[in-house]
Amino acid sequence: MRVVFTANGRRVEADDVWEGESLLYVLRERVGLPGSKNACEQGECGSCTVYLDGVPVCACLVAAGQVQGREVRTVEGLTGPDGALGPVQQAFLEAGAVQCGFCTPGLLVQTDALLARDPRPSDGDIREALSGNLCRCTGYEKIMDAVRLASARISGISGEGGGA
Ligand code: FES
Ligand code: FES
Repeated sequence: MRVVFTANGRRVEADDVWEGESLLYVLRERVGLPGSKNACEQGECGSCTVYLDGVPVCACLVAAGQVQGREVRTVEGLTGPDGALGPVQQAFLEAGAVQCGFCTPGLLVQTDALLARDPRPSDGDIREALSGNLCRCTGYEKIMDAVRLASARISGISGEGGGA
């Protein structure tokens, strides 16, 4: 089957997609977007989270045929128009919230979605929003710092630095 959809604003096409092939596989192996990670392939870890028509989903659980004609945005699409890191990406980098990096693409997309609907989430809101994204490296505190830092910047609050 041929699958055509929009990825990060660009029309992409994949040929010979087999029935049951996942969106994650198509992104990583067929259309040159390997940023989304495959850490469990069964909807348990959130590493593969992408936007599908503006809603975060686990790309490993979405059949490629389901994205026909739809819009996907991946971690690669969180950068600015000039290719510079977006505010959420920059905050994760500065807060040291990235170690092995497997969980990071999913956390970035999920954080982006959280801050889009609520630029000033409470710590409880952050924990709840990221509860489906598993990290085996960081202990989550630096991730919390990163989200607080991104929140401060996006909502224009001074006193960055995380942990507050
Ligand atoms: S790889 Fe999709 S949820 Fe883990
Ligand atoms: S940084 Fe390694 S799993 Fe999160």
